[in-house]
Amino acid sequence: MKQIELKSVITECQIDELSAAEQQLINKAVKATERSYAPYSNFHVGAAVMLSNGIDIIGSNQENAAYPSGLCAERVALFAAGAQYPDAAVMTLAIAARNADGELTAEPVSPCGSCRQVIIETETRFKRPVRILLYGRRCIYVVEGISSLMPLSFTEF
Ligand code: THU
Repeated sequence: MKQIELKSVITECQIDELSAAEQQLINKAVKATERSYAPYSNFHVGAAVMLSNGIDIIGSNQENAAYPSGLCAERVALFAAGAQYPDAAVMTLAIAARNADGELTAEPVSPCGSCRQVIIETETRFKRPVRILLYGRRCIYVVEGISSLMPLSFTEF
Protein backbone atom coordinates (compact mmCIF):
# COMPACT_ATOMS: atom_id res chain seq x y z
CA MET A 1 0.00 0.00 0.00
CA LYS A 2 1.17 3.56 -0.54
CA GLN A 3 -0.22 6.98 0.16
CA ILE A 4 -0.67 9.43 -2.68
CA GLU A 5 -0.41 13.09 -1.76
CA LEU A 6 -2.48 15.51 -3.82
CA LYS A 7 -1.24 19.08 -4.03
CA SER A 8 -3.29 22.23 -4.60
CA VAL A 9 -1.59 25.54 -5.27
CA ILE A 10 -3.58 28.72 -4.73
CA THR A 11 -2.16 32.24 -4.90
CA GLU A 12 -3.42 34.88 -2.47
CA CYS A 13 -3.22 38.47 -3.65
CA GLN A 14 -4.74 41.94 -3.54
CA ILE A 15 -6.78 43.34 -6.41
CA ASP A 16 -4.09 45.82 -7.50
CA GLU A 17 -1.71 42.91 -8.12
CA LEU A 18 -3.91 41.67 -10.99
CA SER A 19 -4.00 42.94 -14.57
CA ALA A 20 -6.43 45.74 -15.46
CA ALA A 21 -8.57 43.24 -17.42
CA GLU A 22 -8.82 40.90 -14.41
CA GLN A 23 -9.57 43.77 -12.04
CA GLN A 24 -12.38 44.73 -14.39
CA LEU A 25 -13.64 41.12 -14.48
CA ILE A 26 -13.76 41.03 -10.67
CA ASN A 27 -15.63 44.34 -10.65
CA LYS A 28 -18.16 42.81 -13.06
CA ALA A 29 -18.61 39.81 -10.74
CA VAL A 30 -19.08 42.20 -7.79
CA LYS A 31 -21.60 44.25 -9.77
CA ALA A 32 -23.40 41.04 -10.84
CA THR A 33 -24.18 40.28 -7.17
CA GLU A 34 -26.70 43.13 -7.43
CA ARG A 35 -28.57 41.18 -10.14
CA SER A 36 -28.85 38.01 -8.10
CA TYR A 37 -32.32 36.67 -7.31
CA ALA A 38 -31.83 35.08 -3.90
CA PRO A 39 -34.93 35.66 -1.74
CA TYR A 40 -34.48 32.29 0.03
CA SER A 41 -30.80 32.25 0.98
CA ASN A 42 -30.15 36.00 0.86
CA PHE A 43 -26.69 35.04 -0.36
CA HIS A 44 -26.08 37.03 -3.51
CA VAL A 45 -23.41 35.60 -5.78
CA GLY A 46 -21.99 37.20 -8.92
CA ALA A 47 -19.77 35.62 -11.57
CA ALA A 48 -18.07 36.97 -14.68
CA VAL A 49 -16.30 34.99 -17.39
CA MET A 50 -13.72 36.36 -19.79
CA LEU A 51 -13.84 34.68 -23.21
CA SER A 52 -11.12 34.24 -25.82
CA ASN A 53 -13.01 36.62 -28.13
CA GLY A 54 -12.54 39.43 -25.58
CA ILE A 55 -16.17 39.41 -24.44
CA ASP A 56 -17.10 39.18 -20.75
CA ILE A 57 -20.34 37.45 -19.71
CA ILE A 58 -21.89 37.83 -16.26
CA GLY A 59 -24.11 35.58 -14.21
CA SER A 60 -25.77 35.68 -10.80
CA ASN A 61 -27.51 33.05 -8.72
CA GLN A 62 -31.18 32.60 -9.59
CA GLU A 63 -33.21 30.85 -6.91
CA ASN A 64 -36.62 29.20 -7.01
CA ALA A 65 -39.25 28.19 -4.43
CA ALA A 66 -38.55 24.62 -5.59
CA TYR A 67 -34.97 24.90 -4.34
CA PRO A 68 -33.13 22.54 -6.72
CA SER A 69 -34.59 24.39 -9.69
CA GLY A 70 -32.38 27.42 -9.00
CA LEU A 71 -28.87 27.82 -10.34
CA CYS A 72 -25.54 29.13 -9.05
CA ALA A 73 -23.99 32.30 -10.48
CA GLU A 74 -21.04 30.41 -11.99
CA ARG A 75 -23.23 28.06 -14.01
CA VAL A 76 -25.53 30.89 -15.12
CA ALA A 77 -22.46 32.71 -16.49
CA LEU A 78 -20.80 29.63 -18.03
CA PHE A 79 -23.99 28.36 -19.65
CA ALA A 80 -24.89 31.83 -20.96
CA ALA A 81 -21.38 32.09 -22.45
CA GLY A 82 -21.78 28.64 -24.05
CA ALA A 83 -25.20 29.57 -25.44
CA GLN A 84 -24.07 32.87 -26.91
CA TYR A 85 -20.48 32.12 -27.96
CA PRO A 86 -20.11 28.33 -28.23
CA ASP A 87 -16.76 28.61 -30.03
CA ALA A 88 -15.08 31.02 -27.61
CA ALA A 89 -12.87 29.47 -24.96
CA VAL A 90 -13.40 30.46 -21.33
CA MET A 91 -10.15 32.06 -20.16
CA THR A 92 -11.00 33.37 -16.69
CA LEU A 93 -13.87 33.13 -14.20
CA ALA A 94 -14.31 35.64 -11.35
CA ILE A 95 -16.66 35.03 -8.40
CA ALA A 96 -17.88 37.38 -5.66
CA ALA A 97 -20.72 37.28 -3.12
CA ARG A 98 -22.67 39.43 -0.67
CA ASN A 99 -24.01 38.14 2.63
CA ALA A 100 -27.56 38.72 3.90
CA ASP A 101 -26.33 42.02 5.40
CA GLY A 102 -25.44 43.23 1.88
CA GLU A 103 -21.69 43.25 2.61
CA LEU A 104 -19.28 41.61 0.20
CA THR A 105 -17.80 38.58 1.91
CA ALA A 106 -14.52 39.14 3.73
CA GLU A 107 -13.17 35.77 2.62
CA PRO A 108 -13.05 34.48 -0.98
CA VAL A 109 -16.11 32.51 -2.10
CA SER A 110 -15.41 29.13 -3.66
CA PRO A 111 -17.60 27.37 -6.24
CA CYS A 112 -19.82 24.46 -5.16
CA GLY A 113 -19.14 20.91 -6.30
CA SER A 114 -21.64 21.01 -9.17
CA CYS A 115 -20.11 24.22 -10.53
CA ARG A 116 -16.64 22.66 -10.23
CA GLN A 117 -17.88 19.78 -12.36
CA VAL A 118 -19.11 22.24 -15.00
CA ILE A 119 -15.78 24.10 -14.92
CA ILE A 120 -14.01 20.76 -15.51
CA GLU A 121 -16.17 20.17 -18.57
CA THR A 122 -15.40 23.70 -19.80
CA GLU A 123 -11.67 22.99 -19.52
CA THR A 124 -12.05 19.67 -21.33
CA ARG A 125 -14.17 21.26 -24.05
CA PHE A 126 -11.75 24.10 -24.81
CA LYS A 127 -8.58 22.16 -23.94
CA ARG A 128 -7.25 24.81 -21.59
CA PRO A 129 -7.38 25.54 -17.88
CA VAL A 130 -9.78 28.19 -16.61
CA ARG A 131 -8.09 30.77 -14.39
CA ILE A 132 -10.37 31.30 -11.39
CA LEU A 133 -10.44 34.49 -9.31
CA LEU A 134 -12.22 34.14 -5.97
CA TYR A 135 -12.98 37.55 -4.50
CA GLY A 136 -12.96 38.44 -0.82
CA ARG A 137 -12.58 41.87 0.81
CA ARG A 138 -9.54 40.61 2.73
CA CYS A 139 -7.85 38.99 -0.26
CA ILE A 140 -8.35 37.32 -3.62
CA TYR A 141 -7.49 33.69 -4.33
CA VAL A 142 -6.14 32.95 -7.80
CA VAL A 143 -6.52 29.35 -8.94
CA GLU A 144 -4.81 28.18 -12.13
CA GLY A 145 -7.29 25.58 -13.31
CA ILE A 146 -9.99 23.57 -11.61
CA SER A 147 -7.73 20.61 -10.76
CA SER A 148 -6.48 22.60 -7.76
CA LEU A 149 -10.04 22.75 -6.43
CA MET A 150 -11.18 19.32 -7.59
CA PRO A 151 -8.52 16.65 -7.89
CA LEU A 152 -9.35 13.16 -9.18
CA SER A 153 -12.24 14.57 -11.15
CA PHE A 154 -14.60 12.62 -13.37
CA THR A 155 -14.05 13.64 -16.98
CA GLU A 156 -14.73 10.68 -19.25
CA PHE A 157 -16.53 7.36 -19.44
N1 THU B 1 -24.25 29.81 -4.79
C1 THU B 1 -23.68 30.28 -5.94
O1 THU B 1 -24.32 30.95 -6.76
N2 THU B 1 -22.37 29.99 -6.14
C2 THU B 1 -21.57 29.36 -5.26
O2 THU B 1 -20.39 29.18 -5.53
C3 THU B 1 -22.10 28.89 -3.99
C4 THU B 1 -23.57 28.99 -3.84
C5 THU B 1 -25.65 30.15 -4.55
C6 THU B 1 -26.63 29.01 -4.58
C7 THU B 1 -27.73 29.56 -3.73
O3 THU B 1 -28.56 30.40 -4.52
C8 THU B 1 -27.03 30.43 -2.71
O4 THU B 1 -25.75 30.71 -3.27
C9 THU B 1 -26.86 29.80 -1.34
O5 THU B 1 -26.28 28.56 -1.42
